[in-house]
Amino acid sequence: MDELSLPSRSRGTTERRKTDDRTNLLEDRREVIEIPKFGMAEEVVHSAIVLVADDDTATRNLLSGLLKAEGYRVFGAQDGQEALDFLITGDPAVALLDVMMPKLTGFEVCVAAKANSETRLIPIVLLTGLSSTDDRIRGITCGADDFLSKPVNQEELVARVKSLVRLKEFTNELESAERVLFSLVLSIEAKDPYTKDHCNRLSRYSVALAERLRLPSHLCRALHLGGIVHDVGKVAVPEHILLKAGPLTPEERQIMEHHPIVGERICAPLKSLRHVLPIIRHHHEKGDGSGYPDRLKGEEIPLTARILQTVDIYDALATDRPYRRAMPPEQVFSVMHEEANRGWWDDSLICEFQSMIMKTP
Ligand SMILES: [Fe+2]
Repeated sequence: MDELSLPSRSRGTTERRKTDDRTNLLEDRREVIEIPKFGMAEEVVHSAIVLVADDDTATRNLLSGLLKAEGYRVFGAQDGQEALDFLITGDPAVALLDVMMPKLTGFEVCVAAKANSETRLIPIVLLTGLSSTDDRIRGITCGADDFLSKPVNQEELVARVKSLVRLKEFTNELESAERVLFSLVLSIEAKDPYTKDHCNRLSRYSVALAERLRLPSHLCRALHLGGIVHDVGKVAVPEHILLKAGPLTPEERQIMEHHPIVGERICAPLKSLRHVLPIIRHHHEKGDGSGYPDRLKGEEIPLTARILQTVDIYDALATDRPYRRAMPPEQVFSVMHEEANRGWWDDSLICEFQSMIMKTP
C-alpha cells in the first residue's frame, strides 16, 4: 500500500482536519512511497487523490507512477478490503480497481461502494483483461463507471482519470448545492418542534411505497429528496404565519399557499432535482381541484406528488400535534378513506400504503 496525502488550502476547516487525520493515519502505514511537503506547486497541492487497487505490486506501482507524473496523489491498495476502506475514509476523486483481488474482488468493492450514500458518487474504473467481455458486463451490473483494459495504455489511463476527476468535481459542486438546500430545510424544521423528523419519515415512507409500486429508480430517488425538500418554500413564510395556532386570515393563507411555488423556484436551478420539482409544486393539490397552486384534478396531479401526499397525511394524523394526540393507524386510515371518498386523495394509493403499514400482503 502506498499513498500521498496533504491538506488542500482550498478546503474548509472540517475537511482539512479530516485530511490531516488521514495523513497521520496513512503515515503509520508500512509502504508509504511519498509524502509531499508543504510549499509544493499550487497545482500539485490541489491535485486529486486517485485510489489504485491491485494485488500485483508491479502493476500497482506502474499505474501509481504514471498518475503521480501527472500530478495526482495516489493511494495504492493491495486487496479489495483495503480499497473499500480507503473509499470510505479517504474520499478519492477516482478509484481504479483490479477485478481479481484477495479478500474482496473489484466487483464486490464496486457494489459495496455504489450501495453506500457516502461513496456512491466516486467514479470507479475496473481494470479488466483485454478480451474479457464477461467482466465488462458484470462490471456494468455492479455499477462501474468505466473500464480500462490491461495492459493499460498510458495515454488512455491519463485521459480517463482526467475526465472522471473533472466529473467528480462537478458532482462535488452539485452536492454542496444540495447540502445548502438541506440545511435550509433543517432550519425551517427547527422552527417547529412538532414537525421534527417529519421530513425524514416522509422520505422513508414515500420511497417504500414507490418501491412497492415498482416505480423506476429515478422517481424513488425523487421521492427520497422530495420528502425532505418539499416544504423548502416555507422559508419565505413569516414565522408568525408559519407557527400561528389559530386559523389563518385570507391574506395569511395566500402567503402560506405560495410556498410550493417558492420551493419550486428555489430548486429549479439544480438539475439533479428536476424530477423533484413536480412533487414540490403539487404536494398541496387535491383530487377534486380544490387544492393549490394549480387546482389540478385526479391524475393530472403527478403520481409522485400523490404518493407524497398519501404519506404526508398519514404522518400528520399518526403523530402528536399541539392541538391533538396521535391517532392509532386504524383511525388514521378511516379518516383518509373518508377524505378520499370526498374526492381529495387517491384511494388506491391509500389502500396500498395501508397494506404496507399494516403489513398485509
Ligand atoms: Fe407544504
